[in-house]
Amino acid sequence: MAEDLSILKEASKEEKYISIIPQIKALLGGENDLIANLANISAALKEQFNWFWVGFYLIKDDELVLGPFQGPVACTRIKKGKGVCGSSWQQEKTLIVPNVDEFPGHIACASASKSEIVLPIYSGGKVMGVLDVDSEYLSHFDEVDSKYLNEIIKLLDV
Ligand code: SME
Repeated sequence: MAEDLSILKEASKEEKYISIIPQIKALLGGENDLIANLANISAALKEQFNWFWVGFYLIKDDELVLGPFQGPVACTRIKKGKGVCGSSWQQEKTLIVPNVDEFPGHIACASASKSEIVLPIYSGGKVMGVLDVDSEYLSHFDEVDSKYLNEIIKLLDV
C-alpha cells in the first residue's frame, strides 16, 4: 500500500480526479474492511481537494449514522428524507446543491458550508449509505464531481 499520495496542486478538477482515482484504487487493494476503506477514501479526497467536509453516512436501523470523514465535527444521525443526505437516500439519486440555504430542510452542521453534493452508495441494489461533500464556496460541485465520485464509490466492495 502506498503511504504517501501524489497530490496535484495546479490542475483542473478533472485532472485531480484522474490522478487520485488510481491511488485510491491502490489504497483499497487487498483490504476489505469497509470502515478502513471509507476512512482512507475520505483522507485521500480531503488531501487532494481540500474540501470543507468529506465523508460517509451509513444506514443503521433506518437512519443515516455518521461514518468516517474529514473535516469539522458533524451531525451524527439523519433520518430518511431529511436534509440533503436523507433526501439523496430517499430519492436514490445524486443531489447537487449549489446553495444549501435554498435547499428546503438542509441540515446545517456548519454555517461555513455553502454548497454540497451527496451520492447514494448501493449494496445489492439497495442504498446502504451516502458520500457527502461540502464546500465553503457556492456552486462548487457539478457533473464532473458526480461522475468521478461515483467511480470512486464503485471501487468499494459492498
Ligand atoms: N448538510 C447535510 C448534513 C451533513 S453535514 O453537512 C456533514 C444534509 O443536509 O444532509
